[in-house]
Amino acid sequence: MIRFFFLRFRRIPILYSLTDVEKEMKQKIKGLLKEKNVVMLAHNYQPPEIQDLADLCGDSLELSIRASETDADVILFCGVHFMAETASILSPDKTVLLPRQDAGCPMADMITAEALSKKLETLPSMPVVTYVNSTAEVKALSTICCTSANAVKVVNSIEGDQVLMTPDRNLAGYVARNTSKKIHLWEGYCPFHDILTPADVEEARAVHPDAVFMVHPECRPEVVELADVVTSTSGMLRYAKESDKTAFIVGTEIGILYPLKKANPEKAFYPASTKMECIEMKKITLEDVARSLEFMEGRVKVPEHIRVPAMKAVQKMIDCS
Ligand code: 13P
Ligand code: SF4
Repeated sequence: MIRFFFLRFRRIPILYSLTDVEKEMKQKIKGLLKEKNVVMLAHNYQPPEIQDLADLCGDSLELSIRASETDADVILFCGVHFMAETASILSPDKTVLLPRQDAGCPMADMITAEALSKKLETLPSMPVVTYVNSTAEVKALSTICCTSANAVKVVNSIEGDQVLMTPDRNLAGYVARNTSKKIHLWEGYCPFHDILTPADVEEARAVHPDAVFMVHPECRPEVVELADVVTSTSGMLRYAKESDKTAFIVGTEIGILYPLKKANPEKAFYPASTKMECIEMKKITLEDVARSLEFMEGRVKVPEHIRVPAMKAVQKMIDCS
């Protein structure tokens, strides 16, 4: 069967077909998923062949919530480490597998629990709003979590007129421009969103003058300022589906182009820059998935003393939004 795929050297969606070995691997994975009662999740940035195989695709939080509602014994999370941790926080009785343990998030690693505790010594009793793209340990020290979709609402729900937002300075800056509260920010960022410049956007717009420019709030403020739509990955999927526009310049990690095109074959999607490729999100292969399932390899389990306070921060966010 023919599907859209990213050529390794260009990473723009084009037609592709699976090799015989890959087809065999896919069949093996399907058998293991059924046999072991596994729900397979894939983030919107995962490689096409992984998204095509998954039971559920979406953003990290919605995937974890939906997986916790299934009766699967095992959650296989195709994404990065903090996403598997979030699944473990929400589903402590399920086994959570991350097929590549070395798939991490550079932004999540820009803050540690120790560094946050130290910062809070200088900001006593400051509420902490932490982006879900963070480690379980950092979530555990936070007042409430947020996603890129609900960050403004979450911040506005906090009592008091000041908050510390971690770890993404760009998301914090976006919130600061959309709230009356004072935002103290942590100097973290996503290298694959922060790389997009206004010049890249202008170049894309010159080539596609009628396209709508959608951007993720993890991008720099001077880029966000140029956007027609500022939203999360799921927000982009929803917007593109519902919009009567037919062409879009996409300012987020280029993996999103695959589900956008798959859901809207008649519309055109152009990357704002092909530099926006998260190498961590591209680590998991079909072979990794098969091995992880066969040997139950790559388990992620958040210890209870961290899970309970982290769950409190996640639950507060769910209740608020
Ligand atoms: P969302 O899918 O929640 O928008 O997050 C983007 C991201 O960078 C995930 O790593
Ligand atoms: Fe982390 Fe950015 Fe990669 Fe998302 S795209 S996993 S925020 S480094």
